[in-house]
Amino acid sequence: MGKITRALMKAAEERIEHMEKAIQIKEYDQFVARKMDNSLIDARIIAYFDPKSVISEQYKILTTNLLSSNNNKPMKVILLTSSIHSEGKTITSLNLAITMSRAVHKPKILLIDADLRKGKMMRYLGIKQEKGLSEVLNGQASFKDVLFNLDIDHLTFMAPGAVPPNPAELLASDAMKELLNEAKSMFDYVLIDAPPVIPVTDAVILGGMVDGSLMVVQAGRTQRGMVDRAAELLHQGHVKILGHVLTGIEYFVPEYIYRYL
Ligand SMILES: Nc1ncnc2c1ncn2[C@@H]1O[C@H](COP(=O)(O)OP(=O)(O)O)[C@@H](O)[C@H]1O
Ligand SMILES: [Mg+2]
Repeated sequence: MGKITRALMKAAEERIEHMEKAIQIKEYDQFVARKMDNSLIDARIIAYFDPKSVISEQYKILTTNLLSSNNNKPMKVILLTSSIHSEGKTITSLNLAITMSRAVHKPKILLIDADLRKGKMMRYLGIKQEKGLSEVLNGQASFKDVLFNLDIDHLTFMAPGAVPPNPAELLASDAMKELLNEAKSMFDYVLIDAPPVIPVTDAVILGGMVDGSLMVVQAGRTQRGMVDRAAELLHQGHVKILGHVLTGIEYFVPEYIYRYL
């Protein structure tokens, strides 16, 4: 192979390498989720990693709306639920809890994973805690024993604990009411991540013990009939719906907004 041919091939290789890098950077740029430390927290908890992003701004708006919506009764205990599974309840609860904990007056927040059947919050937080809500409810642990201090100021977490044979019964017990009373005396706000409304009764049961409930709705997937049915079930249980949080929305953000943030 002649010198010139080799030089041309090398140049071509370098160009390909350069283009690959450029493509990678371009793809990276498209990700909204940015992990900026080596913690095990999931990159989708954007309020933690990137509090100035456009998405985090949406959680701030939600926080402001929630904190200012106390017309006659203060919203201290808030439930997050949805019609069906995987609509974004847990991701929303985590982002909201972090955003609330950073509000100007630095309220103390307790975030409870009350999905006793399929709680995934620990996975998103990158932590392990065996004892939690179910142990407190069945008398195997005390409330204070199972509080998990995250590395996030003003935010405390309670794991779901071992999967009990009777989740709905446990959640409906007086022990749950006592737990919430204790939580209210120690924290400014309590956020509860609950299972979905349609498949199981847990959310309606919990909804009767809280000040209000936020419904998470995944855009483009959950059918209107499902959302209506869930609202009907919550109304039957006298649960106050504070509003809906739409997830899975794609929208164009003009550059001047990025510059502003
Ligand atoms: N705001 C959002 N926009 C787009 N996708 C989301 C959003 N919130 C959550 N998701 C995605 O939805 C899926 C289910 O999220 P998760 O919070 O675990 O749901 P749930 O707790 O309702 O079962 C995940 O793949 C997550 O990445
Ligand atoms: Mg969940």
